[in-house]
Amino acid sequence: MSAKVDIEFTVNGAVRQVSVPADMSALDMLRDQLDLKGAKEACGEGECGACTIIVDDASVCSCLMYAADCDGRTIETIEGVQTVDGLDPIQQAFVDQGAVQCGYCTPGMVMQAKHMLAKNPNPTEGDIQRGLEGNVCRCTGYRKIFDAVAEAARS
Ligand code: FES
Ligand code: FES
Repeated sequence: MSAKVDIEFTVNGAVRQVSVPADMSALDMLRDQLDLKGAKEACGEGECGACTIIVDDASVCSCLMYAADCDGRTIETIEGVQTVDGLDPIQQAFVDQGAVQCGYCTPGMVMQAKHMLAKNPNPTEGDIQRGLEGNVCRCTGYRKIFDAVAEAARS
């Protein structure tokens, strides 16, 4: 059994303190210790983007990040995206464009799109495709996702 590490970080605007096994992933810590189940595990190897979160303005595959490395960081997960007024514009665009089918990829897609649009608010179609190339969707064929991100950019 691996030694525990005490960490403190900010997630979705709240300071959290947890004790985590040294070999625990950030994804498992978020899901199992903080009950933030939005980020999903699919490949577990950094290949699909289902577990994407934003850490200090970088998009990160949380399956590849140690929970211990969250210490002192600022993290945003899909649970922090919704506003008091309702869905984030990116989430609304996914709904409007029918870009959600099984939904397993959606939290990671939305987080990656949010990160991309923060860096590039007026992306071309090519920018959108390149920006999401690390995120896999088995259902939609991607067209509706690309259209949703373009709609979000327009809004
Ligand atoms: Fe992390 Fe696939 S589960 S990249
Ligand atoms: Fe099913 Fe993308 S909506 S994997």
